[in-house]
Amino acid sequence: MHIPPFAIEQFFAAYEFTTPYLLCASDCETMTVADLLRLADMPLDALGDLRLSYTDSQGSPALRAAIAAQYATHDAASSLPVTAEDIVMLAAPEEGIYLLMRALLDPGDHVVVLTPAYNSLLNVAEHVSGHVSRWPLRVTPSGVTPSGWQLDLDALDRLLATGTKLLIVNFPHNPTGLLPSPAEFADIIALARKHDVWLFCDEMYRGLELDGRETLPTAVAQYEKAIVLAGLSKVHGLPGLRAGWLALHDAALRADLINWKHYTTICAPAPSELLALAGLRAQAQLIARNRALITANLQTAVAFFARWPELFTWRRPQAGSVALVELHVADVTAYCHTLAQTAGVLLLPGKYLDYDEGFVRWGFGRADFATGLAQYEAYLQRAR
Ligand SMILES: Cc1ncc(COP(=O)(O)O)c(C=O)c1O
Repeated sequence: MHIPPFAIEQFFAAYEFTTPYLLCASDCETMTVADLLRLADMPLDALGDLRLSYTDSQGSPALRAAIAAQYATHDAASSLPVTAEDIVMLAAPEEGIYLLMRALLDPGDHVVVLTPAYNSLLNVAEHVSGHVSRWPLRVTPSGVTPSGWQLDLDALDRLLATGTKLLIVNFPHNPTGLLPSPAEFADIIALARKHDVWLFCDEMYRGLELDGRETLPTAVAQYEKAIVLAGLSKVHGLPGLRAGWLALHDAALRADLINWKHYTTICAPAPSELLALAGLRAQAQLIARNRALITANLQTAVAFFARWPELFTWRRPQAGSVALVELHVADVTAYCHTLAQTAGVLLLPGKYLDYDEGFVRWGFGRADFATGLAQYEAYLQRAR
């Protein structure tokens, strides 16, 4: 059965490993295995001594306990405790999107998706159910809302009232960097509850709140029909681990997810599970490091955007590593391809996010951001 191209990943596949300056990456700067183990206070031999057997399909009990403990620390006041039993490890965060749609949806089920969205959140839902409605984020003139983006909760209420089975959201949001206020997030959960809708909350960027903003409580600690996707790719800067998990309370749905997983990957790779444990042990240092990196890169970006007001209209991200920025050129997509091919600088066209042609995604999590930006500025000056 046909599925649309995964436009973001196809664009990255074409350029990621041949373009020197990635100004649109969504992950944070990574590190070596040795550095990670050192940070986690684990010996290198822990990896060397690991046996490469199959792993538990649900995920290693020790790793699931560490994940649940991390939710307990952040969400102590929550009404729904998250336990190791609630966690299903994945062979990659991406896998969780596929498994969930397969396990939960039947053809014809109505799904509401916050857009713009990471392609698979929209496309896999559409592929399986064939009945998706978009819940569009509204762009506002800069300064109208703190983020420059607006959630329309009345529109969501109306959409969910149409016999909806699943609502898909992603906070902190890729690609806008929107973080709802705690009240807005509570309202979204209340609407899901009011309409008895499953809530798939992609929390891949949770932990990267900026400018002193509070981390939102995880949806899985707030709502019994929430399914949360999380992992170590973005916030921790460990995308090569492919470590991710789903957290949910419903035992029957968990069993269905694991059954689907037997058809995809059976279990997570043993080295990834071990290193994921290291990533969680070093979590505080990794998050502090990456928040500091994003904050410094945002400062560099602010100065850059101020020097090129005729070219960009930008809305500062409140959380996460990315922002969706207006680029005032005639053909944004063609511009980005030319920029990659002639200046070695990568920006992601909004078109590949299934969004307005006039926008590009920027990413602020990489250590060479300032160097890449200087390359871009030199290119702009040459073209002036
Ligand atoms: C919102 C969102 N969800 C899920 C994923 C998938 O994560 P991974 O690439 O680590 O599988 C991404 C990756 O970009 C993402 O941005």
